[in-house]
Amino acid sequence: MATQEWPPIIQGGMGVGVSNWRLARSVSQAGQLGVVSGTGIDTVLLRRLQDGDLGGHMRRALSASPWPKMAQAVVSRFYLFKGRVPGTAYARLPLWTLDPHKLRTMLAMLGGFVEVWLAKERHSGKVGLNLLTKVALPNLPIIYGAMHAGVDVVLMGAGIPREIPGALDDLARHQATQVRGEVVGQDAHDPTWIRFDPASWLEEPATVLPRPAFFPIIAANSLALLMAKKASGDIQGFVVEGPSAGGHNAPPRGAKHFDTFGQPVYSERDQVDYGALKQLGYPFWLAGGLGRDNGLRDAWRHGATGIQVGTLFAYCRESGLTDTVKTRVIQSLARGTVDVFTDPLASPTGFPFKVAQVPGTLSDSRIYADRSRVCDVGYLREMYVDPRGMIGYRCASEPVADYVRKGGAVSDTMNRKCLCNGLMAAVGYGQVQPSGPEKPIVTTGDGLSAVGDLAGPSGTSYSAHDVIRYLLDGTAFGAEGR
Ligand SMILES: Cc1cc2nc3c(=O)[nH]c(=O)nc-3n(C[C@H](O)[C@H](O)[C@H](O)COP(=O)(O)O)c2cc1C
Repeated sequence: MATQEWPPIIQGGMGVGVSNWRLARSVSQAGQLGVVSGTGIDTVLLRRLQDGDLGGHMRRALSASPWPKMAQAVVSRFYLFKGRVPGTAYARLPLWTLDPHKLRTMLAMLGGFVEVWLAKERHSGKVGLNLLTKVALPNLPIIYGAMHAGVDVVLMGAGIPREIPGALDDLARHQATQVRGEVVGQDAHDPTWIRFDPASWLEEPATVLPRPAFFPIIAANSLALLMAKKASGDIQGFVVEGPSAGGHNAPPRGAKHFDTFGQPVYSERDQVDYGALKQLGYPFWLAGGLGRDNGLRDAWRHGATGIQVGTLFAYCRESGLTDTVKTRVIQSLARGTVDVFTDPLASPTGFPFKVAQVPGTLSDSRIYADRSRVCDVGYLREMYVDPRGMIGYRCASEPVADYVRKGGAVSDTMNRKCLCNGLMAAVGYGQVQPSGPEKPIVTTGDGLSAVGDLAGPSGTSYSAHDVIRYLLDGTAFGAEGR
């Protein structure tokens, strides 16, 4: 149950690297909850080091880590003083598995630590960590790293993070822990566990860490109830995310229907009953299309503590999206609109994924068709049982022949996009393939027009603090803040 005071605005976690430490820090300094994305943070750390670590922030944070030997090993191996020679590829690591390469786990722990440490540096505001339940293999070491930096809350959606509350309790005491791994074709009575033992990584004696709060991100009352009653430990609040939110969306309930453009259609069945949710007794924040005039008041009317906003923050100066992507979107909004397509196929996870239609990105069918499939980042690979009874890894966006060889259906590969490479490119860490640089993919919520309101008719850039002022405008918090 909630014992802490939480602010009314949560800046949504936006992977990969969109909600970076700069954005979260700025939001947190303004008294709201800034959230860093932990998704892919091991790769983000590696690529920042290979790009020369501008400003020295990675190395400064690494030098404060509780794993000095590990930090030194990572810097010696990956840091490039002058950055990469233009046109050369970033280092590739073996992909995540149940028994990951040591470097993967090291980068995950250090990446979680660095991002939260920088977001919290020299102020006392709260900082959260966002992860996707579905990208399960790296999550425990990332959380453990973030806990060493004093993360205040962990927020997780895209799946049922049932074992995470108990894992937070274990990790606070440096005890071995585990979460269930989803494996296609496996008997549910004989689950696979993803294990992590923090003690085996300790370099210095460690005292018990503060246990962060946990907010599952849910789209249905049933999931809220399950997390409140049957999770492996305590939760402290919820984020309720509706289908207009950016990123992945929960699929509609019941029979599938599509509109004339091919987007999934949501119905009353997908509506969360806020009254019933309130009775569970936890604070909750509404997400999805609330980053607008009166969004906060509307949330309060429903009994919520506040709102979680992503899209508006995604295009502010501090966010990790490249200047090219931000300028293209803001300038297009100044001239008219930018279409957002809820793509039922783009994500290899099978979850609907919102894609902004931005020239020069994978939303352009010619650019998509020109890309040669390659799976060299691999966060969205699913585990499956192969004919010998062994666990294998596959992604519906990998080369079709590979996917089919692993027992996948050709039909599942159609129109799938490589979100791992596309999202890395959207924040400036795109891999250079033999065929050329990876192109970005841009995800955004349906409420993109509010970005146009903030940027104004001449399409000027705006800051995270401008977003907060806009969201609080006219509320008691806003009046105080002025
Ligand atoms: C660019 C972008 C990336 C996102 N990535 C994630 C993510 O990695 N994990 C997550 O839980 N939510 C993600 N979201 C959802 C946000 O955290 C937030 O809930 C949502 O944006 C709120 O709705 P809004 O977009 O209408 O403001 C993302 C949203 C955007 C715009």
